[in-house]
Amino acid sequence: MNKDRKLIIAGNWKMNKTVAEALDLVNGLKRELGTVKEVDIVVCPPYTALESVSKAIIDSNLRLGAQNMSAHNVGAFTGEVASVMLKEFSVRYVILGHSERRQHQKESNALIAQKALAVHAAALKPIVCVGETLAEREGGQTEQVLETQIRGSLAGLSHDQMEESVVAYEPIWAIGTGKTASTQQAQDAHAFIRQVLASMFNEGVAKQVRIQYGGSVKPNNARELMSQPDVDGALVGGAALTVRDFADIIKNSI
Ligand code: PGA
Repeated sequence: MNKDRKLIIAGNWKMNKTVAEALDLVNGLKRELGTVKEVDIVVCPPYTALESVSKAIIDSNLRLGAQNMSAHNVGAFTGEVASVMLKEFSVRYVILGHSERRQHQKESNALIAQKALAVHAAALKPIVCVGETLAEREGGQTEQVLETQIRGSLAGLSHDQMEESVVAYEPIWAIGTGKTASTQQAQDAHAFIRQVLASMFNEGVAKQVRIQYGGSVKPNNARELMSQPDVDGALVGGAALTVRDFADIIKNSI
């Protein structure tokens, strides 16, 4: 596939996989995907499996991501994990503002922006998630919702930091439901997000930023989604939990 931006496909394992299961999965992915160079491949296990997965993928083409991070560096924040702790395990990417965290943990755009700055301060890369609900889409509010989320969650980043950031467009109605946005819906939303980035930063920055699509990405729809001009990868949930599906998504995207 001929795009200026290198594809980035990340598996968001969510609250799945014990250490033993996580090792089975990454060892299988190493076997299947060991020679792939065209795509940045990222696995995002739960915190408890980061150390073992980190050791298992040393010297491989798989990169490690975390599913969340505290905006604070240290201290009295029960249950939170700081950047320095993630860096001990060679984490490179951090998913921020996933819709499940926006919904269940009430994460706001302002908090996500603070976290994005903390992620960059630690020389890690954020994958910042945005996306509309079904009611918002049906109410014709998709663009307004996306613009508010993009402007709020990426506020305060420098141009360099923005270029190094990844955005994931995940329509909430497509997450875990088996309903994928049509390729046109995905492309339209991605182009719109890039336009907002151009107005917040500039055209040059907007052209660099990789925008992933997320929401029921499967081996059979990956190729068509990835072929859209503004779709630069995928954030995969359910289909990232088996070697077969995740490996096929990546192979079908190349
Ligand atoms: P899904 O999840 O692929 O299971 O729809 C995507 C996500 O939530 O990142």
